[in-house]
Parts: sequence; structure tokens; C-alpha cells
Amino acid sequence: MIHVKSEKEIEKIRESCRIVRDTLHFVEKKIHAGMTTKELDVLIERYIRSEGANPSCLGYGGFPASACISVNEMVVHGIPDDRILREGDIVSVDIVADKNGYFGDACRTFCIGEVKPELKQLVKVTEECFFKAVEGLKAGSTLGDIGFKVQQHAESHGYGVIRSYTGHGIGKEMHEDPEVHNYGKAGTGTRLRAGTVLCIEPMISQGDWRVRLLPDGWGAVTVDNKPAAHYENTLVVREDGVEILTL
Ligand code: MF3
Ligand code: CO
Repeated sequence: MIHVKSEKEIEKIRESCRIVRDTLHFVEKKIHAGMTTKELDVLIERYIRSEGANPSCLGYGGFPASACISVNEMVVHGIPDDRILREGDIVSVDIVADKNGYFGDACRTFCIGEVKPELKQLVKVTEECFFKAVEGLKAGSTLGDIGFKVQQHAESHGYGVIRSYTGHGIGKEMHEDPEVHNYGKAGTGTRLRAGTVLCIEPMISQGDWRVRLLPDGWGAVTVDNKPAAHYENTLVVREDGVEILTL
């Protein structure tokens, strides 16, 4: 069941989202070739706590770190470890924070130094998929409208749309109804009401859209080991459009 939020609740989600946004700006300044993903995770945890919030990924379903950091062919849920970031890598950093009982969630894919033009393009198109999806989105739009727009844009560039992970509702819990698929048919599916808070998060691959799970049970990599990018914001559906909370 989709829980429509009151303005009072949205105010709390907005604060958690502000912290997520600021954390991602902090990551943008700190991320560099030569550091390990674990080192980056430590900085992220410290930053989120300094804002009086919790790094919500830590301990979620047993996840052992504060952020999901997914390099190149890793699509989502990378566990930070001793992997050293190198020039040319693309790195998705997915951050969730909660404060006063409400969650915010966003992800960016960062380029380390000079990356191949084809990878820059993948990162750019993934971000565009999000903005295409929210263009014209408002109360009365359907979930299928979102998926359709993401899929259309990604596939028009020859990219794959990851199917086995989706966006989601968010609020008092990190993952609430509905599931927000990145593929679909315009005009189909649940109609969204004003006050619904969603995470829309295109996960787009350069090659095959299918993924396999790593032995750690978390990290998901593309089956052909080609790179993938991820871009996500938390937003509120309004009568006349959307309000993006993590920008
Ligand atoms: N933003 C990620 C998601 O919605 C965060 C997952 S936290 C984890 O799936 F603990 F599950 F990794
Ligand atoms: Co999410």
C-alpha cells in the first residue's frame, strides 16, 4: 500500500534528503584515484553522523558499511573494501540517511580523472534518464509513465535497463511501496497521488542488462562485465509537478 505523506512528514524527509545531498557533494570533493572504497566509506559515515543522522545502509539486512560503492561493472550494492579507485573508473555512490525517523536516498556515479568518452556518455545518459522520467510527472501520472521514459531514453542509446533492481517509495522506512520499475508502458500501472514520496533510480548498462550476484550476497555485477551507471533522487509528487528533495 502506498502511504501518502503529510507536509509534516515531508518536512522530516526533506531534512534527511538535504543531508544525503550534502554528503554527495562532500564525496564529489573527496573521491580520488588511489583511495580505497573503504576509506571513502569511513569519510561518508563520519560526515553523515556529523549531521546528526544515521548512515541507514549500515546494518540494513546485515549490510556491513555506510554506503554502497559500486565500481565499473558493479551495478549496485557494492560493499566498500580494499579496492583502490583508479583513473578511468566510474563509481556509483549510493547514500541513505535517516534522522528523526525519516529517510532520504540518492546516488551519483562519479568519474575518476579522465574516463573514456563512451563511459562519460553512459553516465550522462543515465542522469538524463532520471530527468526524462520526471519531465511532466505529477499527480495522476502512472508508474508505467516513469518506466517507459527511462527505458525509451536508455534503449535509444543502445544501453540496457537493469530489471532486477527498482526504485521505491520511501519515508519512515527505506523501502516502501510502490516498486518503481525502470521499464514499462506509458499510461499503465498505479496512478500516483500528490504527497507520494518516491526514489526514482535508473540503473543503466553499456551492454547486457542482466546481472549476477557476487558471493558476498550483495554486490551485483553485469553478466558481461561491462560498466553500468546509477543515478537516483528522492522526490515528492505534487499536483503540478515534482519536488526533488536530494538536489
Ligand atoms: N539505495 C539503496 C537501495 O535502495 C540502499 C541499499 S542499503 C543496503 O537499495 F544496505 F541495502 F545496501
Ligand atoms: Co534507493
